[in-house]
Amino acid sequence: MIAYMKKLTCLLLSCFLMIVTASAQPNQSTVKIKVPAAKPISPALFGIFFEDLNYAADGGLYAELIQNRSFEYSPADRKEWNPLTAWEYTTEGFGYGTISVETNAPVHANNPHYVVLNIEDEGREGVGLTNSGFDGIVVRAGQKYNFSVFVRQLSDNAIPITVKLKGKKGNVADSVTFSTDSKEWKKYTATITATESDDSARLIILAKAKGKMALDMVSLFPQNTFKNRPNGLRADLAQTIADLHPKFMRFPGGCLAHGDGLGNMYRWKNTIGPLEQRLEQRNIWNYHQSVGLGYFEFFQFCEDIGAKPLPVIAAGVCCQNSGGTWRIGSIGQRGLPLDELNAWTQDILDLIEYANGPATSTWGAKRAAAGHPEPFHLEYIGIGNEDAQTPVFRERFKMIYDVVKAKHPEITVVGTVGPSPAGNDYEQGWRFANELKVDMVDEHYYEKPEWFLNNLARYDSYDRAASKVYVGEYAAHDIKRKNTLRSALAEATYMTSLERNGDIVRFASYAPLLGRKGHTQWNPNLIYFNGSQVCPTINYYAQQLFASNEGDLYFPNVITTDLPDTAKTFAASCVKDSKTGDVILKLVNNGAAPVPARINLPAPGTSNGTANITTLTGDPMAENSCDGTQNVMPQTTTLAVKKSFAYTAPAYSLVVIRIKGNKK
Ligand code: AHR
Repeated sequence: MIAYMKKLTCLLLSCFLMIVTASAQPNQSTVKIKVPAAKPISPALFGIFFEDLNYAADGGLYAELIQNRSFEYSPADRKEWNPLTAWEYTTEGFGYGTISVETNAPVHANNPHYVVLNIEDEGREGVGLTNSGFDGIVVRAGQKYNFSVFVRQLSDNAIPITVKLKGKKGNVADSVTFSTDSKEWKKYTATITATESDDSARLIILAKAKGKMALDMVSLFPQNTFKNRPNGLRADLAQTIADLHPKFMRFPGGCLAHGDGLGNMYRWKNTIGPLEQRLEQRNIWNYHQSVGLGYFEFFQFCEDIGAKPLPVIAAGVCCQNSGGTWRIGSIGQRGLPLDELNAWTQDILDLIEYANGPATSTWGAKRAAAGHPEPFHLEYIGIGNEDAQTPVFRERFKMIYDVVKAKHPEITVVGTVGPSPAGNDYEQGWRFANELKVDMVDEHYYEKPEWFLNNLARYDSYDRAASKVYVGEYAAHDIKRKNTLRSALAEATYMTSLERNGDIVRFASYAPLLGRKGHTQWNPNLIYFNGSQVCPTINYYAQQLFASNEGDLYFPNVITTDLPDTAKTFAASCVKDSKTGDVILKLVNNGAAPVPARINLPAPGTSNGTANITTLTGDPMAENSCDGTQNVMPQTTTLAVKKSFAYTAPAYSLVVIRIKGNKK
């Protein structure tokens, strides 16, 4: 029956295939094409997938400039790391003393390590610590920075402390001075104004009297964060993400969410509340998560950029690639003991309350305490990430799924069907999802550009009555994993097929999103950056062109070509945005020859006139560089359009034609 339905759907769909080639219809210009009715598609198809991978959070989107601010780095993160990584003992002017890392009376039990500074002789300039930031601290002249530190005075006397920022050629900010006045942990704050710009400054804290004190949570934030949020995000990077116009954001990651062993699974409750009380942990990608960018900040960012939040929680099992677990010392996928599963599931219910519950509810109150009494309007939750489809996984997923759906039928649950576009986990995952009638499943594929061009019909034959699809991670991997125009065009071509199948493919996100140059564990990524620059790839612009030109209605057969043999090199789509009435055409040509196309606009809703046309084109092997020397960027101009008109898609191009419509 299912096979029959698939066949039928396939037949029906083939009537609507968008490219009609000349070989089939030689006198096409004289043939009347009946424009079939539009089909409703996902109005929120293109979004982003944020994973704390490649220093995407600390040293990335999270605007904190101090590395290892809480002295919690350890060899468990990376074997050469310890609580003093990124720090060094500093003495200026012949002072001397000692520093030690201690744990017996921390600022909070979740944050056990702190530094004790014993100043035996303050010398001329003091004794203290220097932090080198993430590859240096980037400061800009005239900008203000919020400094803060927790200090516990251990000697009887008050200790004056000076904080300064030093660049290559000396001080780059006016120093600030304050004095300790508490034998309990106390937070001290100051504003530092940069007087010079520098890309590799260091923060120096100098104690200027004999005595002893404990220090923790040393922090330096630009005041200019995205939307000026305290504990906020790096403005340029966040803006680059916002400029993608993502309709949703999946977070906090893929493998990071289910973690390297049961003890490393991402637990959202550890990431909210006062920063000094959050529980930091090793990152599966072999570095450290301060979780300063935690669930509150993720939700707030989603709200700030108009993206629907899509948190992903482990399905009670850790990543099948786990190298070893902290709790039970084993390798591979492991499941939480079943008697711990109720608590795990309760955490998911609590997350829904944290996001959506009234400010008077237990978890809604915590959201309100963080400054957001209104709900975050959570509609989606992912359970699991490309997990191996074992009985251990299935048992836990079902237990969680049943409870979440029973208590929150309004939440769309996104299940998982393994790490690949085919194979055992994929097949079994789909069977299981269909058995359970899971709302949506998450498919992943990292494949060569040719794979994308060879699989344009993938979703045409999917069963329309089965679970909906979220293409949660995909990217075309070109040679040496470079972000070439060729890879971006392969993705764009594929995205036209996602639009065509937008009735069942509800979401899609390129992966991964961010990569800090010099600190990548994975390539390619959508956006590269360092401390001072943000470098969008060509793939970024392809994503941006699709996400900012979405529609909620898909029209088949609008764009045709007479050129033979273009089925795998040329694709096109036509969508309409009912809110604006605009009709949007996308044409992607992966070939070396221009493709002449005929466009018969759907009626009603479009009129003769002028359209905006944006083109992304160049050498197929081109890559964008951060210095702007070889940049393939979208170019926008205007184009005269009629109800029926001809347009030739340039070689190696993605073209978006946006025709201002009326709302009829
Ligand atoms: O996107 C990088 C990784 O690829 C994700 O963490 C994981 O889900 C996938 O294997």
